Amino acid sequence: MTDATAALKLIDDSLEGAIERLFSFVRIPSISADPAYSADCDKAAAWIAAEFQALGCKASVRPTPGKPMVVAHYTPPDSGRKLPHVLFYGHYDVQPADPLDLWKNPPFEPQRIKNKAGVELLVGRGTADDKGQLMTFVEAARALIATNGSLPFKATFLIEGEEESGSPSLVPFLKENREELSCDVAFVCDTNMWDAKTPAITTRLRGLVHEEVTVIGPSIDLHSGMYGGPATNPIRALSRLVSSLHDAKGKVTIPGFYEGVSELPAAVKKQWASLKFSEKKFLGAVGLKTAAGEKGRSVLEQIWARPTAELNGMWGGYTGAGTKTVIPSKAFAKFTFRLVGKQNPAKVLKAFQRFAREQMMGDAKIAFSGKGGGSPASEISESNPFIRLSAAALKAEFKREAVLMGSGGSIPIVRHFKDILGMDSVLVGFGLDDDAIHSPNEKYNLSSFHRGMRSWVRIMGALGQ
Ligand code: BES
Ligand code: MN
Repeated sequence: MTDATAALKLIDDSLEGAIERLFSFVRIPSISADPAYSADCDKAAAWIAAEFQALGCKASVRPTPGKPMVVAHYTPPDSGRKLPHVLFYGHYDVQPADPLDLWKNPPFEPQRIKNKAGVELLVGRGTADDKGQLMTFVEAARALIATNGSLPFKATFLIEGEEESGSPSLVPFLKENREELSCDVAFVCDTNMWDAKTPAITTRLRGLVHEEVTVIGPSIDLHSGMYGGPATNPIRALSRLVSSLHDAKGKVTIPGFYEGVSELPAAVKKQWASLKFSEKKFLGAVGLKTAAGEKGRSVLEQIWARPTAELNGMWGGYTGAGTKTVIPSKAFAKFTFRLVGKQNPAKVLKAFQRFAREQMMGDAKIAFSGKGGGSPASEISESNPFIRLSAAALKAEFKREAVLMGSGGSIPIVRHFKDILGMDSVLVGFGLDDDAIHSPNEKYNLSSFHRGMRSWVRIMGALGQ
């Protein structure tokens, strides 16, 4: 029988050490999207592999055409009983830190601070997404092994290094290592709580597909007086595309876009309404007042159950000091589409490309340079026994029922686990809406980190019963 009590006490008594380890991890700027940080990604992979080695796992850093994957296996001493084999997933890569000038402390020099309300925070890029989160299960495993001698189950740890850049190497890696990675269930620690006091299990994630476009006008930048009028301006053509993506009701206008999107069952609508989600607070916290998604749908529905067409960046022409009278030769933009239900990433991409070509005017041409790929949305059955076990453990820790919720974000591997390995995922995470993931001044509440570790001790303990 696993004694979780001793492990919980060890977590409380060794909090400082856990913070120090997390900070060492955060100091490695493992930004997967930017090739300049490729060596740091390798460093982060080696760092976390060494942690698993220290737990008594067989750990390896596995090269891929992109960033390496870290795989570690833990086999408990033979107990004569058939033990579950579970996989734990997290990602060691982080989002780019810019705009750098908006950080109060440098992004890769993590700090422990108290905010105005006296809440203790761990600040730095990756403290929440996902280094802090994944360290919650690593530290829980450490505490259980230290106090009980071993974990009461077989474990495989998979730590990815490309999650924040679309996971290009993931599908081939899962296919090549199907046997090795197939477990009874996957635990994913990369999602949020309902609020700081209420735990949650996420059962819906949106899918995602990217595209990047170059709109090409004249062959060179032109004098806007000499050519202004007859010359096609690519920024205007791109703006027309962007402004025609949505209708007045906030619906995406790309023909075929909503194929595979269905209306929410009445029971789900009712359950979401019962959550008493404050749209005003949610928007107010980020300086907004009015929901800008599809009219007539609640904010929760807009985030959890509706697809989007979003513009993530747009540039071109002269953006330096002062004025320059120029008609630029090119304009650029990055788009992402969040997907729900049965929407197919490849089809959505094709439909967008066709639509985008049709929006070009005059001599403007459009070229697409996205890497393709993408992943469909995930929905996980709430009656999964591992979800029920986790909900009970979370309740024991937080003294509150876990909310079963959706998430607007994407974790591509969850769908691939299901489709390639036939494995369901349980998404238990301790992030909060105001963690500023992907933004300047990312933080993880010390209480998220602490109670996250304690929650995993309870879940892991329960896996042994
Ligand atoms: N941890 C996030 C996803 C998330 C965010 C879940 C908030 C729940 C609440 C994840 O690391 C992430 O940001 N994923 C990217 C994936 C993309 C680049 C393929 C995303 O959603 O933008
Ligand atoms: Mn993440």
